[in-house]
Amino acid sequence: MSYLETTAQVYAAAADTPQVGLCCLSSPPLQWPELTIPEIMQQMNYGCGSTVHPTELAGSPTVLYIGVGGGLEALQFAYFCRHPGGVIAVDPVPEMRRAAVRNLQLAAAGNPWFSPDFISVLAGDALALPVPDAAVDVVAQNCLFNIFEPDDLHRALSEAYRVLKPGGRLIMSDPIATRPIPPHLQQDERLRALCLSGALTYREYIHSLVGIGFGQIEVRARRPYRLLDAQTYALDQPLVLESLDTVSFKVPIPEDGACIFTGKTAIYAGPEPFLDDDAGHLLQQGLPLAVCDKTAQALARQFPGDVLITESTWHYGGGGCC
Ligand SMILES: C[S@@+](CC[C@H](N)C(=O)[O-])C[C@H]1O[C@@H](n2cnc3c(N)ncnc32)[C@H](O)[C@@H]1O
Repeated sequence: MSYLETTAQVYAAAADTPQVGLCCLSSPPLQWPELTIPEIMQQMNYGCGSTVHPTELAGSPTVLYIGVGGGLEALQFAYFCRHPGGVIAVDPVPEMRRAAVRNLQLAAAGNPWFSPDFISVLAGDALALPVPDAAVDVVAQNCLFNIFEPDDLHRALSEAYRVLKPGGRLIMSDPIATRPIPPHLQQDERLRALCLSGALTYREYIHSLVGIGFGQIEVRARRPYRLLDAQTYALDQPLVLESLDTVSFKVPIPEDGACIFTGKTAIYAGPEPFLDDDAGHLLQQGLPLAVCDKTAQALARQFPGDVLITESTWHYGGGGCC
């Protein structure tokens, strides 16, 4: 059996019998006024962070959600995209699709604003999306792409890029590893399916996104979420997994490299009221300006002593330099 078949088996079982905290830590789902989330959807929250960022969803965009799970995030997206077919949710596992459709019907009973036809649940695979080129504003996936081996990850990211409109955004939440996961764990298909052993390091993860062509990547959250202890996982020392929430924009990569926002700011600390770097950045004395990592590095190099760069907060929310 291939690791993809093992994955399908794991999630078929998780569809038939909800398993709280199956692959990721269970955190309480985001709530908004007049949104009632059925209990079973909460039990089937198999994600490790959140991909539903209201600031990305102005104007009722069309969302493609990959790996529907119990339908929780599809419902949360539909809260912001209230029109028939506003959310297309795909999953190759029939049991999971059936569970999602059932859960969404339950949600309709408890949410007067919601109609199940806001979400089309389709048979579909992240590696060959059943959607035309440049068709959707947002693609989202939570805790699925980390399962893929490198070639498949490349295919899944390319597919996401293909179906996004220019300027569209890929919103992801995945585990990442604080150091490379050793081969004996990476090759364990069940651990991989459970989102425990396929994770890339932060650097590799961002590199994969840039390699596909995403010109701007914003980190929305980064936090510890699991420990692989030395004894259970046959490691020299324990390995911390983190969860990473990102938004990647389908915009051209600038000549000097992609803009990666991790929550850094640049603060001009010199004697003048303003500092102009002649590269499009105007810094007002004493006022932090949100900058991407590339600009942070350039400013620190160009104005040592006059520009102070603050650490990454790992929750950038917009308003930055580029
Ligand atoms: C870890 S669960 C995450 C579910 C959901 N995103 C959530 O946050 O609760 C992975 C989901 O991806 C689905 N899946 C597995 N292989 C897939 C593939 N090749 N393409 C798309 N979805 C897949 C599984 O059936 C399952 O619904």
